[in-house]
Amino acid sequence: MDRNTEIGLIKQVIGLADQKSAYLDPTIAHSPITRYISPDRFEREMSAIFKRRPVVLAQSSELTGENAFLTKRFLDLPVLLIRDGDGRAQAYLNVCRHRGATLERDAGGCKRVFTCPYHGWSWDNQGDLRAVPHEDQGFPELMRAERALRSLPTAEAFGFIWIIANPETSEMPDIETWIGAELAKDFNWMDLADHRIAQIETVDIAANWKVLIEGGLEAYHFRVAHKNTIAPYFMDNLSPYQIYGPHMRGVLPRTTMPDLSQTDETSWEIRRDANLLYTVLPSMQMLVQQDHVMWFHYEPVSIDCTRIRMATLVPNSVPQTDEMEEHWAKNQLITKTALMEDFDLAAEIQSGFASRGNPSHIFGRYEGALNRFNAAVEEMIQG
Ligand code: FES
Ligand SMILES: [Fe+2]
Repeated sequence: MDRNTEIGLIKQVIGLADQKSAYLDPTIAHSPITRYISPDRFEREMSAIFKRRPVVLAQSSELTGENAFLTKRFLDLPVLLIRDGDGRAQAYLNVCRHRGATLERDAGGCKRVFTCPYHGWSWDNQGDLRAVPHEDQGFPELMRAERALRSLPTAEAFGFIWIIANPETSEMPDIETWIGAELAKDFNWMDLADHRIAQIETVDIAANWKVLIEGGLEAYHFRVAHKNTIAPYFMDNLSPYQIYGPHMRGVLPRTTMPDLSQTDETSWEIRRDANLLYTVLPSMQMLVQQDHVMWFHYEPVSIDCTRIRMATLVPNSVPQTDEMEEHWAKNQLITKTALMEDFDLAAEIQSGFASRGNPSHIFGRYEGALNRFNAAVEEMIQG
């Protein structure tokens, strides 16, 4: 984020606080509930969005060191993620090219050669087939090059490893182009590439992935839903947002932000007096707090269940002392406690869909970001 943007965003909040106004969209909008319950719609989201656009598979610090590997699942794909001797990350299908056994069963480690536990075929960490037991008699004229591991388009940028979750494609867009120049500038400003995971946990929530993302896009609910947790620290119903292609940045000002009008603007720092929420479609949100970043990774398990990885990302420059680790653990717990209030509401909303009591939901003028998010999803489905 450049300094002008930072000052501009703070001035916008001070101005709105002065006028005692929320950040308003021009009109209300309606969101048909078929978006969240139609199996056909879900299939289209998977094929046109989740299997066609860059999605984050891992944070870079999960795969450190030469010859490191990780096994993951994303949607229906078993994935083997390898960092080769040159430090390059590459994702492959974790499926043996002989008769399809799971090639690597361990969650992670360090290896140069991957040997299938079924008949012992092995591949090196460039994905090339290296050995086939009894090859001469059993597999005459085997074209080894045709039996390389199936790779997935992979890129590493801003401290994350991104893939296209589709072995049928080889195209990977430039990630900076995908997220857009403005968000790239922000991610460089916060040095996202130089962060590690201090805390991480995974929860499965019985809600459509879009209901979960929507939950973070407005502050209209803070005073009610979060009255016992975070509400006192944030301004009531104020969350300006900016759109960058399908992605967005939201500003969640702390109650202290309007007081900045009494101070010299050279001393203003947006991260001190606001949280920033980045939504990078389709699978991630990042809540940028004062000294760390909360990373939320959404993986649709089914139309009404989403797996969420929640992690505290911290700058590598902060020493890993017991005291700091305790601090991060405490932060993770505070954020998780507040977020579970949102996630529980999302699951209630999802279970309410079955009643068909609402043919659509209504987004008020405070909730414009939800409408924009859904419009971006529709656009991506249209291609
Ligand atoms: S299935 Fe892997 S070696 Fe046979
Ligand atoms: Fe919330």
